[in-house]
Amino acid sequence: MDNNREQWSSKASFILAAAGSAVGLGNIWKFPYIAGENGGAAFLFIYLICIVLVGLPILNIEILLGRATQKNPIGAFKTLTDKPFWKYVGALGVFASFTILSFYSIVGGWSVAYTFEALKGTFSSFDNPQMAADFFNLKNSNAMWVVGWHTVFFLMIVGIILSGVRAGLEKASKFLMPVLFVILMILVVQGLMLPGADKGTSFLFSPDWSKINPQTFLLALGHAFFTLSLGMGAMMTYGSYLSEKDDVVNASYLVAFLDTIIAILAGVAIFTVVFSSGYDPAAGPGLVFHVLPPLLAQLAGGYIFALLFFLLLTIAAVTSGISILEVSVAYLVDELKYSRKKATLTMGLLVYLAAIPCALSFNLWSDVTLLNTGLTFFDAADYLASNILLPLGGFFLAIFAGYVWGVDEVVRNLLIGDSNSVYFGNSIFKSPSFNKLFSFLVRYLSPILIFLVFLYVLGWI
Ligand code: TRP
Repeated sequence: MDNNREQWSSKASFILAAAGSAVGLGNIWKFPYIAGENGGAAFLFIYLICIVLVGLPILNIEILLGRATQKNPIGAFKTLTDKPFWKYVGALGVFASFTILSFYSIVGGWSVAYTFEALKGTFSSFDNPQMAADFFNLKNSNAMWVVGWHTVFFLMIVGIILSGVRAGLEKASKFLMPVLFVILMILVVQGLMLPGADKGTSFLFSPDWSKINPQTFLLALGHAFFTLSLGMGAMMTYGSYLSEKDDVVNASYLVAFLDTIIAILAGVAIFTVVFSSGYDPAAGPGLVFHVLPPLLAQLAGGYIFALLFFLLLTIAAVTSGISILEVSVAYLVDELKYSRKKATLTMGLLVYLAAIPCALSFNLWSDVTLLNTGLTFFDAADYLASNILLPLGGFFLAIFAGYVWGVDEVVRNLLIGDSNSVYFGNSIFKSPSFNKLFSFLVRYLSPILIFLVFLYVLGWI
């Protein structure tokens, strides 16, 4: 084993970092708008099912593979099997990290930009969401503006990664995650106090089943992967900085719980504001950038709320962005023996450039669509990652764990690690009957569900 490889200073640090990875734009930007477009509570329900049946087992497996091999995704598969096929599955993960970060960094850049706009008080002059949408479109029509803020966001994550696992990833998450939580709670409480807030909460909690169709399952499954940072080795890489004495099972459940609760709280914070002002929740990706700024700014104390909201979005994006880039950095460090600095600068530059077409999707290249999909680079990167690459990665992970590494080996490894968790006591999640259920999910249910969703995407069912 590589003695120089860094490890988290404690299990709690890992949990915060992994929660930092999971809680991101997916929770605060994406979840509210997908839920908004797909019937609110009905979507939430299907999404929760996907988290429990598919997300949780795969989250366990990913972290476990990382801890067991102490490697990046490509190295992890290479360590456990000689079959070259699996190396390519790892490589698919590295490719997915490029794809995700290329659009993620654009939205991260918007978040930083909007934090500054909030600071300047720009939003108080907007009377309605149309003005905010015009402002958003005007800013984005300037390629330099989009590329510039993408650059700022990128420099932030590269800076953190350069400092290493403990001084970078761990320290950032330890400081930023509590801040994120406090800000979110402030926004939730203020949202709930608005007149008409109950319309927002009932949208999120009382289902309209007629809104559900096969597309809902696809979106919910893709989003379950995205929001838990699964399917491309991010959790594996974070898991590789754990030691064998750290338990994986309880940590996974806690991370998934925090992620889900934070998505729901973000939904409450956003929908209470949107509904109490009588606006449409189905505004799509622009929901938090078009609809929210003027609505927040018009509240009493709105200057602060708008500022807090975009700060929240920025923090969420940064602690996730670092986990996406870390995958390919770890690959260069472990496999090609690069120094962390050289690996970060090399991958950072490559991914930074790969994101430029996504930045141009809103201006110079807004008419450029890929093949016959009608999607711009930005939309295509999001679609490809969330709906294809991540579920595909998850499918292979389940197959690998269930049939190649073997479910007995998985369970044996799951039981390693301090089970007297400070969080759950001696966990039921490590009991024999629970492990049977877990094996069933890994071998049968998760791969079959993912497979069915793929058949649907391909139009075969
Ligand atoms: N989970 C993050 C979010 O919800 C995004 C993210 C971070 C991610 N790392 C990832 C998505 C790895 C997929 C794979 O915003």
